[in-house]
Amino acid sequence: MEKIPTRKQIESLNVYVPGKPIEEVKREFGLEKIIKLASNENPFGFSALAKETMLREMLQTNSYPEGTAPLLTEKLAHYLHVPQDSLIVGNGSDELIRLLTRRYIRPGDEVIMADVTFPRYKTNVQIEGGKSVHIPLIDGVHDLTGMLAAITEQTRMIFVCNPNNPTGTIVGKKALAAFIEKVPSHILLIVDEAYYEYVTDEDYLETLPLLLSHPNLIVLRTFSKIYGLAALRIGYGVMHPSIVKELMKVKEPFNTNRLAQSAAIASLDDSQFVEDCKQKNAEGRRYLEEEVAKLGFSIYPSQGNFVMILLDRPGDEVFASLLKQGIIVRSGGLLGYPQTIRVSIGTPEENQAFIEAFKEALVSEDEG
Ligand SMILES: Cc1ncc(COP(=O)(O)O)c(C=O)c1O
Repeated sequence: MEKIPTRKQIESLNVYVPGKPIEEVKREFGLEKIIKLASNENPFGFSALAKETMLREMLQTNSYPEGTAPLLTEKLAHYLHVPQDSLIVGNGSDELIRLLTRRYIRPGDEVIMADVTFPRYKTNVQIEGGKSVHIPLIDGVHDLTGMLAAITEQTRMIFVCNPNNPTGTIVGKKALAAFIEKVPSHILLIVDEAYYEYVTDEDYLETLPLLLSHPNLIVLRTFSKIYGLAALRIGYGVMHPSIVKELMKVKEPFNTNRLAQSAAIASLDDSQFVEDCKQKNAEGRRYLEEEVAKLGFSIYPSQGNFVMILLDRPGDEVFASLLKQGIIVRSGGLLGYPQTIRVSIGTPEENQAFIEAFKEALVSEDEG
């Protein structure tokens, strides 16, 4: 086919490689039972209240959903103690990242982010012809001083992923509060809190109360993680109402569907489910940290529902060996940390199975 002239910045863009799907691994290796610890999903499912409401909502599939999800924003406003017009709901928080760069990034604009962090920031900046400025993590943690020093006349946006994917680390309360104070008010500061509900460390900053005094601050959260609604694609952002209005201009009219909206509303009522998941996740995180330490490897101190294991060999090799044993994790190779793997925290049985398979992977490679 003849080459169609396109936007130059898209040509070098790679297609996003998600965690390997269970079905694909089953086929490839002829395995019956697969454990997927690759996409930071909730191994405990989702709220029973969400299931009930989805079944009801399914019967209305012939009619469009409400485009701005007003019942959900009303519920969230009440739940989060923020004004309703400071909320926008997205097709996953992925979409909100896309809307922000779509609306605000012009060719040549600079966006500061950590290296390594959630890859969708960089991709979306590139799509708009902007320039990502990467500030290396220090021991897996955002270097906020380095990020401040990287601000130039061209800086339009800064992303802070807290807890950070893939390292799981958080930035300290005081350091983040001071950072928010110092970022000039004409630069949008986006704090991505996709794993907010999993955090147990008290040194974690509550950002929502700072929104009133910092109109350039944007907080992103999602129903994909602790609420277990990843397949429905629904997340939200909290920000100054004037920014919400701007994002509405570039949003698809019906970006979130009926099932997702109703399930999200119901999920907010099930605080018991969230609390249980948080507790089990913290126990799983502790178990993995201890078991991995016994094997002589370390883990970044994670506050998310995943851990990054620092290896003494290529993550790709350990990934491949685990895969043969029916356990899907993420190799750090794809995430920018070649000597690591990222492992989502599963049920207690899954975590145990991972540790056994990990031991086997280490032995088989040492022998090979
Ligand atoms: C840090 C971070 N932000 C955003 C997302 C996107 O989540 P979703 O689009 O499912 O809300 C993810 C998903 O893994 C993530 O890790």
